[in-house]
Amino acid sequence: MAAIRDGFQSRIGFVLAAAGAAVGLGNIWGFPTQAANHGGGAFLLVYFIVVFLLALPALYTELYIGHQAQANPVKALKLAWTEKAPKVGATAGYIGLFGAIVMLSFYSIVAGWMLAYALEPFARLFGLEALSEFLKSDSLERNLLFTPLMLLLTASIIFKGVKSGIEAWSRRLMPLLLVLLVGLIVYIATQDGAQAGFSAYLQPDFSKVTDPDLIIAAMGQAFFSLSLGVGCMMIYGSYLKPNENLPRLTASVAMLDTGVAFLAGLLIIPAIYVAQHNGVQVFQDGKLIGEGQLIFAVLPELFSSMGEIGLVVALTFFVLMAIASLTSTISSTEIPVSFLVENHGVTRRSATWWVTATVMLASLTIIFNFEWLFGLVIQVFTQYQLPLMGLFYFITVGWMWRRGNQLALECKGWMYYFAQYVRFVCPILMTAVFVNVAFNH
Ligand code: ALA
Repeated sequence: MAAIRDGFQSRIGFVLAAAGAAVGLGNIWGFPTQAANHGGGAFLLVYFIVVFLLALPALYTELYIGHQAQANPVKALKLAWTEKAPKVGATAGYIGLFGAIVMLSFYSIVAGWMLAYALEPFARLFGLEALSEFLKSDSLERNLLFTPLMLLLTASIIFKGVKSGIEAWSRRLMPLLLVLLVGLIVYIATQDGAQAGFSAYLQPDFSKVTDPDLIIAAMGQAFFSLSLGVGCMMIYGSYLKPNENLPRLTASVAMLDTGVAFLAGLLIIPAIYVAQHNGVQVFQDGKLIGEGQLIFAVLPELFSSMGEIGLVVALTFFVLMAIASLTSTISSTEIPVSFLVENHGVTRRSATWWVTATVMLASLTIIFNFEWLFGLVIQVFTQYQLPLMGLFYFITVGWMWRRGNQLALECKGWMYYFAQYVRFVCPILMTAVFVNVAFNH
């Protein structure tokens, strides 16, 4: 008898886990930085439009493929393409697996920095200056310590499986994340200078709305933020019970993720302006001074300028970042782990060790070639691989899955029109964005 597949025990468990996968550094760091650099409110507006028109349908299609197949992305995509070209489907699944490893390789490095910065206030509290300096340093040694630490933390949750590991921890961490985020927003809002940040964030500069760079940045950001294109959502969808209401769950996950990105903007952009008010240099030639410096220079300087309370604010902020990272790294790790377990009969424990070791090797490659490789990997991954895989999923659900008309045939009412939208409009819209970028560069 086949073993019963592990899966989510409750609907809320799924929503928190999928939202945990989605909510991450992309929301709390990437989104506000992109917004600050691309006209504040203009980016916010385009982002919402892209989420609604493309990322939300892409989220649905990815969850749908996994949910229908009840299998990992390689198996699921192969099944989806069975009639036309099973090899094409399986290859796309492998590209997704590769993407998950790539994403983990840079993400774990940054997540490690968050962990280091979350410990730093303790070092200061106990007067351990040298340790505090080390934790804040940009050193190779710190990366070599904290990247593996983050990977081990992730592995310790993955070992336990979907219900007892991913779901149980998402249920604990996600509410905590929301409380910390809202607490920080309220605190920063009371500081001098915050008002200018709210205005910059919430008032769109319409002249920037049609900028192709802004549109591709918003699209990459939306796909990265919803963890689309590597199979995270496909594997989580596959762990849902077969009779779940997928459209409603999709909407809940997208709303939580977009809501947290919006809230993160309400925290970070006013914080930038508070920092500027306190004399910290934050902008140069109309752009934020280096994206990395925002989190690791501007904000820590802001926290120091707050005196004693700054220690608590710094701790809260970096714990928030570490939690957001962890709920995302577990989802990406689950993709190759489930593949090794289901396709190669490896035990969950060994599969987790294999994946952790592979990611560590990939991370080391980036750590030792940081200057040129880190930014390049992130850009290619977010702006091209993820949306292109999204396009592939639209084609899969719209044209390949059971001859491409299952979604339309099984749906009634407005979902019928949504199925047609996924089939015809989404691929065209997505291609149009890429063509627009190609012709404007
Ligand atoms: N979706 C995750 C994030 O936004 C990867 O960081």
